Amino acid sequence: MEKFYFIITYGCQMNVHESEKIAGILRKRGYVSCNAEGEADIIVFNTCCIRENAENHAYGNIGALKKLKKAKPGLIIAVGGCMTQQPGAAEKLRKKFPFVDIVFGTHNLEELGDLLDKKQAGKKAVVEIAEGKTVVKENDADISYRTSYPNAWVNIMYGCNNFCSYCIVPYVRGRERSRKPENILAEVNALLDEGYKEITLLGQNVNSYGNDTGGEMSFPALLAEICKRKDKFRLRFMTSNPKDFGEELIRVVAENEQICKLIHLPVQAGSDRILKLMNRKYTSGEYLKKVELLRKYIPNCQLTTDLMVGFPTETEEDFQDTLDLVRKADFSTAFTFVYSPRSGTVAAGMDGQISDEVKKDRIMRLVGLVNSQTREKSSVYLGKTTEILCEDFDSKKNCYLGRDEYGRMGYFTSSENKIGQFVTLKITDASGVSLYGEEVKGNTEEE
Ligand code: SAH
Ligand code: SF4
Ligand code: F3S
Repeated sequence: MEKFYFIITYGCQMNVHESEKIAGILRKRGYVSCNAEGEADIIVFNTCCIRENAENHAYGNIGALKKLKKAKPGLIIAVGGCMTQQPGAAEKLRKKFPFVDIVFGTHNLEELGDLLDKKQAGKKAVVEIAEGKTVVKENDADISYRTSYPNAWVNIMYGCNNFCSYCIVPYVRGRERSRKPENILAEVNALLDEGYKEITLLGQNVNSYGNDTGGEMSFPALLAEICKRKDKFRLRFMTSNPKDFGEELIRVVAENEQICKLIHLPVQAGSDRILKLMNRKYTSGEYLKKVELLRKYIPNCQLTTDLMVGFPTETEEDFQDTLDLVRKADFSTAFTFVYSPRSGTVAAGMDGQISDEVKKDRIMRLVGLVNSQTREKSSVYLGKTTEILCEDFDSKKNCYLGRDEYGRMGYFTSSENKIGQFVTLKITDASGVSLYGEEVKGNTEEE
C-alpha cells in the first residue's frame, strides 16, 4: 500500500528548498506526496522562528493535529527547522505536544530518514537537535525532490556569522559554512542540463561566500564562473548584506546578462543610531552610496529591500529617517516587518522596547509609502513589453503566470502550455506588483 507524506513549510527560501530535501528523503523511503493532512501517513512541519507570529502559526497548526493523531494513531508527526533549534525548544515542543513523534534540528535534516527508521522500529519518540555536526553536506543534488520547475534553488552556504542584534538566525543555523565551488557548479550545470531556466543561489549573506574555506573562490568569481555557460537562463541570488556589497560584485552583475538586474539589499532602517544598535555595520549614507554605484554601473537595475519598524528605542525621528531613505533609494518594492523580540538575542534584552500601538502605526505608514512607490513602478510597464519566464498555470484565474527579470509577476492566457518558456508580454493592465498582458508572438527570444 502506498504511504503518503505532507510537508508544511514556514519561513524563507532556505526552508522552501530544505523542504525539497525532506521530500527527497521521504521518497527514498517509499513515501509519495498527497494533497491534504488527513490523507498523510507522515506530516512534517518545517518551521521558522524569525518573528513571533511565524512561531505562533506553527504552534497553532501542530496543536490542531491532536484530533487527527487520535483518530489515526499510526500517523507520524515530525517537526524540524529553525524553531526546534532554539535552546529548550525541543523539550517545550514535546511537553506541549506529546503526540509529536520526531523532532529534528536544522543541523540534522539529513538524519530524518534514520530518525524515521528508529521511530518505526518501535521507539516512542525521537529527538535529534545536536549541533556540532556542522559539516557541509554536499549531496544536495542527490536528495532534493524539486517541484519548482523551471526555477531551482541551490544552497551555496549555510549559517550566518553576523549577529545582527535582533536576529535569531545565527543561533539556529550556526556559523557560516560554504559549499565547495566545484560541487555548486556541478549542481547548477546538472540543473541547466535538465532544462531548469532559473537558478537562485541561497545563503544568509552570499557576499561572505568562501570566507570560511580560505577564499578559494569569491562570490563574484562564482557568479562569473556559472555565467560561462552561454545558454539562456536566469541567475539570481539572495541575500546580500549591504556591509559586504561591493564594486566587484556590481561589475559581475553588470557584465553577465544571465544575472537578473534586480538586487535585494536589505537596509532594515534609515537611522544611523538604530543601524548601529542593530549591529548592521553600515550607515544610511554608506548604503545610499552603494545604491548610487549600482545605478551607475547598471542604469536599468532595480532594488528591493527589507525594512523593520519598532526596534528598541526607535523614535519618531528615527522612523522618519527610514521613510526618508525609502524615498531616496527608490526601491521597486520592499518587505516590511514589525520588530519582534527573539529570546536570546541582544536586542530582546534592550531597554526601550516599543509598544504594539506605536509599532502598528509606524508599519501602516511605512506600508502606505512602499505601496505607493510599488504602484508607480508598475504603472511604468503599461503599454510596454517585458519578458517573463512562465512558471505556472493559475486554474482559478485561468491563465499562465511568470516573473520578469525584476520579479514582477505577469499573467496571460494561452492555448498552449507555456510553463518553462520565456514569453514576451505586452502589458495592458497593472495592479500592485501584478502585471496583465498579451503574448507577443514571434518575438520570444530563443537561442
Ligand atoms: N540574512 C538576511 C535576512 C534574513 S531574515 C539579511 O541579512 O538580509 C529576513 C528579514 O527578516 C530581515 O532582513 C529582517 O528585516 C527581518 N527580521 C529578522 N529578524 C527579525 C525580528 N526579530 N523581528 C522582525 N523582523 C526581523
Ligand atoms: Fe540575521 Fe543579520 Fe545574519 Fe541576516 S545577516 S541572517 S539579519 S544575523
Ligand atoms: Fe529562514 Fe526563518 Fe530560519 S527566515 S533561516 S526559516 S528562522
